[in-house]
Amino acid sequence: MPFKNRDIISIYDFSKSDLLHVLKVAAAMEKTPRSSLLKGKILGTLFFEPSTRTRLSFTSAMEQLDGQVMGFATSAVTSARKGETLWDSIKMIEQYVDIIVIRHPQEGSARLASEAAKIPVINAGDGSNQHPTQTLLDLYTIQKTKGRLDNLKIGMLGDLKYGRTVHSLAIALSHFTNIKFYFIAPDALRMPKEYRDALSEKGVPFEETENLFEVSKDLDVLYATRIQKERFPDPLEYEKYKGIYRLDKTLLTHIKPDLRIMHPLPRVDEISPELDDTKHAVYFEQAGNGIPVRKALLALVLGAVK
Ligand code: CP
Repeated sequence: MPFKNRDIISIYDFSKSDLLHVLKVAAAMEKTPRSSLLKGKILGTLFFEPSTRTRLSFTSAMEQLDGQVMGFATSAVTSARKGETLWDSIKMIEQYVDIIVIRHPQEGSARLASEAAKIPVINAGDGSNQHPTQTLLDLYTIQKTKGRLDNLKIGMLGDLKYGRTVHSLAIALSHFTNIKFYFIAPDALRMPKEYRDALSEKGVPFEETENLFEVSKDLDVLYATRIQKERFPDPLEYEKYKGIYRLDKTLLTHIKPDLRIMHPLPRVDEISPELDDTKHAVYFEQAGNGIPVRKALLALVLGAVK
């Protein structure tokens, strides 16, 4: 399906060839870091929730392609504080910009924004639901650091219930051949049924365990996530699970030599900095891959490349 004017809301909307096409364009973007592909275009960055990587990498990507950026990093400075609905806000903002990137705490908010807007909308994270552009940069990172997207054993660790990045990534990887997942989480934070069912329907195998060391020797990629304090309805529940996993050098004797450790970041205490300089840690490179991937998405959706 062509990308021009397309909304990027859910990873379910991507076919395997769509995913591979974005990765191919991203690789081309990485080879030619600066160009004037988006000269005259304006990106609106609407961040109703905190972000460092996603907002800044979209901004940098747009500016490296000679486009302009306007927006906000917190809803505190917007008329949402005066009671304006998201629908009305989008109806206004679409008159000022050519494309919108939105992060919002409500699940389904990006879809609602895309229904309100005539211009393209990109989901930069809607509550615990999805984070499709993170998934594209995760796939790009796996392809670059493992050399393949097929024949992989992927561990996902931590807050699999509220972690939107693992939801989107599991669905995206289910398009590829001979993938097996290991969901490593306490029962209360296990991968939601919707995603387990989606994998089962596609015949993608997965195991669930609370114990990383039971499965760590099998893994090609370990994707760690933060226990997300802000998503817990009950703060006491968060206290029970915070710090439950902490990757440190003791992991190194229980893994394959070419294991890659990924994390969408920010981390709190789930990966010790002592792992940062090991060949296994690719999480900072992963964050950097947000630039070529988000350039590719902006250029595709704005019709600057096919
Ligand atoms: N990975 C990610 O979405 O990071 P930010 O919350 O900093 O954007």
